[in-house]
Amino acid sequence: MRKRDNKETDFIPALRFNWLTSLYDPILRWTMRESAFKNQLIRQIQVDPGQRILDLGCGTGTLTILLKQTYPKAEVTGIDIDPKVLQIAERKAENMGMDITFNQGIAFELPYSNNSFDLIVTSLMFHHLTLENKLRTLHEIFRVLKPQGEIHIADWGKAQNGLMRVAFLPIQILDGFRTTTDNVNGLLLQLMTNAGFNETKETDRFMTIYGTLSLYRARKNML
Ligand SMILES: C[S@@+](CC[C@H](N)C(=O)[O-])C[C@H]1O[C@@H](n2cnc3c(N)ncnc32)[C@H](O)[C@@H]1O
Repeated sequence: MRKRDNKETDFIPALRFNWLTSLYDPILRWTMRESAFKNQLIRQIQVDPGQRILDLGCGTGTLTILLKQTYPKAEVTGIDIDPKVLQIAERKAENMGMDITFNQGIAFELPYSNNSFDLIVTSLMFHHLTLENKLRTLHEIFRVLKPQGEIHIADWGKAQNGLMRVAFLPIQILDGFRTTTDNVNGLLLQLMTNAGFNETKETDRFMTIYGTLSLYRARKNML
């Protein structure tokens, strides 16, 4: 594992505090319609045998494992900044006999060469990043995607109504207003366009007890 300076290694853990990480899976499963939105994210992608998929900010690996189960002939990699969640992800994948590579790394400094993935999926990570790092991350995703490659995101989005806006406040208090406000302002689509993506689209929305969760997709069209 590489050593990095403090500024770059600062990150918001899955449930804000390290000591809550072991509760992440049960909380997500029972309170967030996790299986509904993660399966919907998987339904919106199409993967051919041998293609390379990256789960960015993979956390405890639930989506990474679902991807490999759905597309066993694809090469699936998960990356996260936090070694603690990666340990959980690795253990889960190993217990299920899944051949998945997990790497530690920073979303906005990806340790992969240009044009190396066919698809990148990311769930509930962007609201952990500042506006600057959201954009840096989208540039990095653009760089490591192959031409015509796709990005698929699930994250907090623009509230559908006043109730959903109020429901989102606990997440903002937990994870911080600095990183979550761009999401609820609906900025992710615009940021994807700014990073060079085409065909950017919000594909679905879920009402959850913590507010509106949106799914997005975009393509790296090379002209
Ligand atoms: C709320 S969790 C989501 C985990 C998983 N994708 C899911 O949907 O369950 C957010 C994850 O993003 C990771 N993360 C936060 N900042 C990051 C960064 N700068 N680079 C890579 N991962 C990051 C956290 O460590 C955490 O595991």
